[in-house]
Amino acid sequence: MADKDGAKASKDFGVGVPPPEQGGFPVKGAGHLDWGMQHRLARMFDPVSGNTVMLAFDHGYIMGPTSGLERLDLVIPPLAGHVNVLMGTRGAFKTCVPPTVQKPIVLRGTYDTSVLFEDMSVGGGIAVDMANAVAMDASAVAVQTFVGAPGEKNSLELLARTVDAGTAAGVPTLGVVAVGKDMARTEEFFLLATRLLAENGAHVVKSYYCDGFERVTAACPVPIVIAGGKKLPEADALAMAYRAIAEGARGVDMGRNIFQAEDPAAMAQAVGQVVHHGFTATEAFTFYQDTKA
Ligand code: R5P
Repeated sequence: MADKDGAKASKDFGVGVPPPEQGGFPVKGAGHLDWGMQHRLARMFDPVSGNTVMLAFDHGYIMGPTSGLERLDLVIPPLAGHVNVLMGTRGAFKTCVPPTVQKPIVLRGTYDTSVLFEDMSVGGGIAVDMANAVAMDASAVAVQTFVGAPGEKNSLELLARTVDAGTAAGVPTLGVVAVGKDMARTEEFFLLATRLLAENGAHVVKSYYCDGFERVTAACPVPIVIAGGKKLPEADALAMAYRAIAEGARGVDMGRNIFQAEDPAAMAQAVGQVVHHGFTATEAFTFYQDTKA
């Protein structure tokens, strides 16, 4: 307990010094959120660039041991230091990522049907409720959505309920745009899907790069981060990341193009040079070649 007899007289009230600026929160669309939400978002987005490199390693939740992720415990911890955020499932974090890893985590909050099921786009349900997400110190909870597919209604309901629960707990929601195998990856589709997720409350949207991407990012009132998709040659993946950032993405949530790269640590760093330091695709590829083991 403070000792009142020894207290120094208060005198430095900063009279005449204006109070701190309360506006100007740097994450798009987040200026009116509550303190806990902003605090979590501020962990995810770099304070200087305003962008983020998220490492996605949640593929096993529907695909089992994907190439490059056979041993999460061996692959993920060494990469953590090269990215801003780790995105995975509860089971992966609890078994394979030490809690001493000082990185914000995005927790996959929904389950879906596996690749053996006839149609993954029917969607699933809640895998981790908000109390458990808070217990894991999640910086955001990710919800998979299936716009234009059989699982649309169910997944939008899961998104809305997650946004409700997350708002009460101060935890942002990452809305994930899923693309079915028969769906065209068009500007028209991504304009619709990204805007729809944001208007239903997602605080960050994960989507895909497409032609006309600058219009997709302009029309979406929250930050868009792009998934990498199937493995590309490293130069092509860096070129895609460069175009996405140049056209308004606030980062990447990339999996296979990092952990399936010939040198995943070098690739994670090269992506970071594009996302945070304005490297061109060519500069980043040179960096990758110079850095890889
Ligand atoms: C997709 O739903 C999963 O959430 C993956 O995390 C996502 O596809 C990103 O991984 P990749 O860059 O390998 O596509």
